[in-house]
Amino acid sequence: MPEADTGVDVVRVRVPGKINLSLGVGPREDDGYHRLATVFQAVSIFDDVTVRWAPAGQVRVRTSGRQSDHVADDPTNLAHRAAVALRDRFGGDWGADIAIHKDIPVAGGMAGGSADAAAALLACSVLWDLAADHDDLRELGAELGADVPFCLMGGTAVGTGRGDELVPALSRGHCHWVLAITTHRLSTPEVFAEYDRLRPDPAYPQVPAELMSALGSGRPDRIAAALGNDLTEAACSLHPELAELLALGERAGALAGLVSGSGPTVAFLVADEADAVDVHLRLKAELDGEVELRRVHGPVPGARPIHA
Ligand code: C5P
Repeated sequence: MPEADTGVDVVRVRVPGKINLSLGVGPREDDGYHRLATVFQAVSIFDDVTVRWAPAGQVRVRTSGRQSDHVADDPTNLAHRAAVALRDRFGGDWGADIAIHKDIPVAGGMAGGSADAAAALLACSVLWDLAADHDDLRELGAELGADVPFCLMGGTAVGTGRGDELVPALSRGHCHWVLAITTHRLSTPEVFAEYDRLRPDPAYPQVPAELMSALGSGRPDRIAAALGNDLTEAACSLHPELAELLALGERAGALAGLVSGSGPTVAFLVADEADAVDVHLRLKAELDGEVELRRVHGPVPGARPIHA
């Protein structure tokens, strides 16, 4: 139902989830956000966001796929808010029907909500034929959520400030990961609040130099030794099974286990694709159906249009 003569009826954007290879958390500032020094890596687990024309002024969203029953299909949905923010910024009366197909875990620490907002920004800007450049989308994205700019960018990047000030990072080769996706969900604000309780006076963080040089070397053993997440203790305190899951992965042959962002998804770094299969099978034998295992790799590109 084209409402404007852009010649485009449908746009689909694929957007990756992320892991924080290193997540240093500093003090909470007056804006309510903690100062971070983080290294993001986009990995090959994707949501697809498809937008079509809707009657003027109407934005609608519906979600399918993994855990989609835990996503609100209403104006609080971050993709819905992204479309409205873009429309308001460009001062039009366009409408959009947004269909989200989720594979990124919901409330799993992999920026699923931010990914959908990033994809909706890009998809609507193409559908509505707006003269929005990368900086416009990044700026709007940062107002919607701290991880949205990285979901637009993808690859491997250093994030400072709230995690939204990005510089691409040099990295060689690919990391292979086994993700353990639990049915449990953690709220990011609650994990940060628990962090404040456990560490009332943190220092301003820095990105570890060993990680940057390990990424440049492309050696998984060196990368494994330099991974770290300051939110691990807080996430494990709210969801104690996580500590056991981390230990299980290392016993199963992973080089290292890492809580992804605020959790509870756990990412196990493995040496190569063959080891990913071995670790996957060993973990599968140990775990019940409560935990889903997925082999992914990174870095992958950020939000990009694909054939609809
Ligand atoms: O920006 P976003 O909505 O994704 O952040 C979710 C919540 O995570 C924030 O409301 C805040 O509680 C916490 N957060 C934080 N410091 C950051 C990023 C997120 O405290 N740098």
